[in-house]
Amino acid sequence: MPQNRYKAVLTGATGGIGQAIARQLAPQCEHLILLGRNEAKLASLQQELAATGAKIEVLAGDIGDTHTHQRLEALAKSTGGINLLINNAGTSQFKSFNEQSSDEIQGLLNTNLLAPMLLSKCLLDLLQKEAKAEIINIGSIFGYIGFPGFATYCSSKFGLRGFSQSLRRELSDTSVSVRYFAPRATKTPINSDTVMQMNAELKTESDTPEYVATELMKFLQTNAWEKKLGGKEAFFVFMNQLFPKLPDKAILGQLPIIKKYLKK
Ligand SMILES: NC(=O)c1ccc[n+]([C@@H]2O[C@H](COP(=O)([O-])OP(=O)(O)OC[C@H]3O[C@@H](n4cnc5c(N)ncnc54)[C@H](OP(=O)(O)O)[C@@H]3O)[C@@H](O)[C@H]2O)c1
Repeated sequence: MPQNRYKAVLTGATGGIGQAIARQLAPQCEHLILLGRNEAKLASLQQELAATGAKIEVLAGDIGDTHTHQRLEALAKSTGGINLLINNAGTSQFKSFNEQSSDEIQGLLNTNLLAPMLLSKCLLDLLQKEAKAEIINIGSIFGYIGFPGFATYCSSKFGLRGFSQSLRRELSDTSVSVRYFAPRATKTPINSDTVMQMNAELKTESDTPEYVATELMKFLQTNAWEKKLGGKEAFFVFMNQLFPKLPDKAILGQLPIIKKYLKK
């Protein structure tokens, strides 16, 4: 298997999961473009990954800004194209839906759903020039299970899954595949201390970002169209699809704990 087969773009590269992916992906890349907003973190990651032998480029910009997409497209063109786009940038908010402002709802949907859609669109021509290329959308177990306090976040990840499935089918006679990778709770800064404490009380298991990155690297070796992390979570998704009243009841039982943390 060639070691440098990927010409990749990774968004959210400065975050917990993003950095872990960058570290495991870089040795398999001819070139890797890292996108984030924090220039210092990007520069430090670029320096660290130089030793892998891959050509590491960085771009600082807001993923919600289409100007960033155009800059990324120009950079990808100048580096010789891309055959892998990982839409990983994302944000979350644990808050009662009724208390989220319109700006908060729109901002979250922009970053988690609209931005990966528009970035995929912007890079699609370049991806289609390759003999084989793929878009990996980093979703969530919350892209299958609606959960109290996360109505907007869950909507964004359900939406991203719908986008992934639709575009995958639309492009199924082309060289580009579109796949959905769904971590469960993971120990990164996206989860506030309140969410971490709630997860502990609910006995929700959390993975390390390194484990998530390792599973993503394994997923890249397969042709599966989606991957859910966590056996218990995958079973819960299955029950949610077939017998939704059972998760309804289980989550109703957890609601007093969830509401206690929503008030914090
Ligand atoms: N951690 C979990 O429990 C969990 C579970 C399931 C799925 N996920 C998904 O995994 C992905 C990575 O999350 P994470 O856990 O690694 O979170 P994280 O540590 O907070 O990292 C999020 C990354 O996204 C970037 N980002 C956020 N908003 C952006 C914007 N408007 N423009 C450009 N970059 C932006 C952040 O950049 P800055 O550093 O500039 O903010 C950061 O690099 C997300 O899509 C998340 O929904 C996470």
